[in-house]
Amino acid sequence: MCGIVGYIGSGLAAPILLDGLKKLEYRGYDSSGIALLEDDRLKVYKKVGKLDALRNELAFRNFYATSGVGHTRWATHGRPSDENAHPHVDCQGRFAVAHNGIIENYLTLREWLISKGHKFRSETDTEVLPHLLEEFYEGDLVETVIQMTKKIEGSYAMVILALDEPNRIVAARQDSPLVVGLGNGENFVASDIPALLCHTRNTYILEDGEIADITAGEVIVTDQYGRLVEKNIFEVKWEASQAEKGGYDHFMLKEIHEQPRALRDTLSGRIDPGESEIVLSEIKMTPEEVKNISKIFITACGTAYHAGLVGKNVIEKLVRLPVEIDIASEFRYRDPLVDESSLVIVVSQSGETADTLAALRESRRRGAKVIAVTNVVDSSIAREADYVLYTWAGPEIAVASTKAYTTQLTCMYLIGLYLAQIRGTVPGTERKAIIRELKKLGDKVSVILNNCAAIDSFVDTYKNAPNAFFIGRGLDQTVAMEGALKLKEISYIHAESYAAGELKHGTLALIVEGVPVIALATQQDLFEKMVSNIKEVKARDATVMAVAMAGIEEIEKVVDHVLHIPNTHPLLAPVLTVVPLQILAYRMAVARGCDVDQPRNLAKSVTVE
Ligand code: M6R
Repeated sequence: MCGIVGYIGSGLAAPILLDGLKKLEYRGYDSSGIALLEDDRLKVYKKVGKLDALRNELAFRNFYATSGVGHTRWATHGRPSDENAHPHVDCQGRFAVAHNGIIENYLTLREWLISKGHKFRSETDTEVLPHLLEEFYEGDLVETVIQMTKKIEGSYAMVILALDEPNRIVAARQDSPLVVGLGNGENFVASDIPALLCHTRNTYILEDGEIADITAGEVIVTDQYGRLVEKNIFEVKWEASQAEKGGYDHFMLKEIHEQPRALRDTLSGRIDPGESEIVLSEIKMTPEEVKNISKIFITACGTAYHAGLVGKNVIEKLVRLPVEIDIASEFRYRDPLVDESSLVIVVSQSGETADTLAALRESRRRGAKVIAVTNVVDSSIAREADYVLYTWAGPEIAVASTKAYTTQLTCMYLIGLYLAQIRGTVPGTERKAIIRELKKLGDKVSVILNNCAAIDSFVDTYKNAPNAFFIGRGLDQTVAMEGALKLKEISYIHAESYAAGELKHGTLALIVEGVPVIALATQQDLFEKMVSNIKEVKARDATVMAVAMAGIEEIEKVVDHVLHIPNTHPLLAPVLTVVPLQILAYRMAVARGCDVDQPRNLAKSVTVE
C-alpha cells in the first residue's frame, strides 16, 4: 500500500504535496517523491527513507510550481531505493505517475515496451505506466489514460502530471482508494481523506473504473469508456484535529485513549432506550431471512481477524449456529462451502484490504449475504457489501490497530445479540444483562487506562527480552493472539500466543528461567485450568504477568505481577483484557526506542494481495 497526492491551483504545490504525504505516511514510508511542473520541465525529486529525508533535502529550495503529484511508498516490486521511489517518468520526461496498487501484467508490458525502444530505470511494476502513456499519447491525456487502462491488469490508484498539458492532472482508480478534494480555484486528490482535510471537506469518492480530469477550476469524472459520471459530493464530517496527535506522543497512544469514546460511538443509536433490544437498522434482512441462515462465515486479516475470532466464539454461543472463520487471504482458495443460505461477515478497519475485499466478492458471487464491519465510510468494502455496520472509531492513523479492534469486537457483540434476538436463542433477561454490561465498557476501559502503572516495572525488566509468550484459554486465547501481534509489530520482540493447555505439547520446551509469560485469566469457568497452566510455566522459572478480573485474589499467589481489569460479563471481557496488552506493547516499543506509529516493513492497510 502507498499514499498518493495531487494538487492543481494557484498555491505553491510543493508544500501542499509534502503536507499531504505526511498525512498519508501511515500507508507506507520507505521512500517518497514529488513531481512538479517548473520552467517548462517536469522535475522529479525522490528519496529513499521516511518522508523527512525528502523534506530535509528540499528544505532550502524555492519552488514556484502550482501543480504536482506526490507519493509515499511501501515497497512491493523492487526494494526501497531512490530509483524505485515514485513518481516514475517516461523516457523523455513528459509524464510523471504516482501509483498505489500492483500492475499484475507488468512483465509482459515491460518486455513489449522495451521491444519498442523504451528504457526502464527502476525495478517497479509502476514504471510501465509512464512508458505506456508515452507510447499511446496523441494530445489528450484523459483519452490516453482510458486507452492505457484497457492494457493494464491489477489494481491501481494513480495520479498523472503531463508536461504537454500543464493545466490538468488526471487520476484513475481500480481497486485502490482515491478521493478528490474540491477546493475554490484549486483541487486536490489523495489516497485518503486526512491528506485533504486542511484544505476542504467536500470530496468525490472515486469508484472503480472512474477517471478524474482535474483542473484548478473543475473536476470532470468519466467512466472507463469516457462517459460522464455525475458524482455526489461527500462532505467529510470529522475534524482535521481528529487526524492529529492532540498532545499525545504517538498516534497509537492517542488512539488507545480514544477507546472509551469510540466504544460509546459504536453503540450509539444501536440499543433501545429500555436497554433490552439491539437496533441494527443497517442490516435490512427480514426476520425470515435471518431465520433461514444456515451458517455464518467471518473473514478478515490481522487484528481484524483476531476480532473475528472473538466474533466466532460469541456468535456461536449466542446464536447457536456454526460459525467458520478464515484469514481472508486463504478464504477463496479453499473453496469454502458458502452458498445462498450463508451469512458472511467481513471485518476491515480501512475497508480497503485487498484480500478481505476479494473474500467479500467471492462470497457474493456464491450468493451469500455479506455484512461489512468497517470504520471507513464509503470504502470499497462498505460499498460492495449488502449491509454495513460502521464502527465509528474515528480515523485510526497508527499502523498498530487498537480502537479498531475494540470497536470491531463491539460490532461482533451487536451482531450476535441482534441475530439471537430474532432467532430467539437468548432469553430476554440474559440479553438485557449483556446489553447493560456492553454499555459500561467505555467507562471500564477508562478505569484500566488510569491504572496501568504496574506495567512499567515489567517493561523495565523485560525490555531487552528476545521472546515473550501470551497464553490463555477460551476467549482469552484469542486476545492472547492480539496481544502477541501488538508486541511483535511495534517492539520487534518475538512474541507467540498459545492456548494455555497446548503448551505441554511442545512449546513448554521454550519456557526457561526468566522468560516473560503474559497469562490471561479472565474466563471464570476456565480459571482453575488456567491456574494449572500458569503453574506449569512457573515450575520452569518463567516470570508471569497475569491479567485477571477484579476480586480474583487467588491469582496473586501464583504469578509475579497482576493487572486487574474491572469485572464484566465473560463474553465481553476481551474488550477490557486487550487494553493492558496494548499499553504493554506501546511502552515496550517506546522503551526500546522503536518507531511506534510506523513500524518497519508495515503499512496501515494492505491494498495488494
Ligand atoms: O484495514 P484492515 O482492518 O482490513 O487491516 C487488516 C490488517 O492489516 C490490520 O488489522 C493489521 O493487522 C493491524 N494494523 C495490526 O495492528
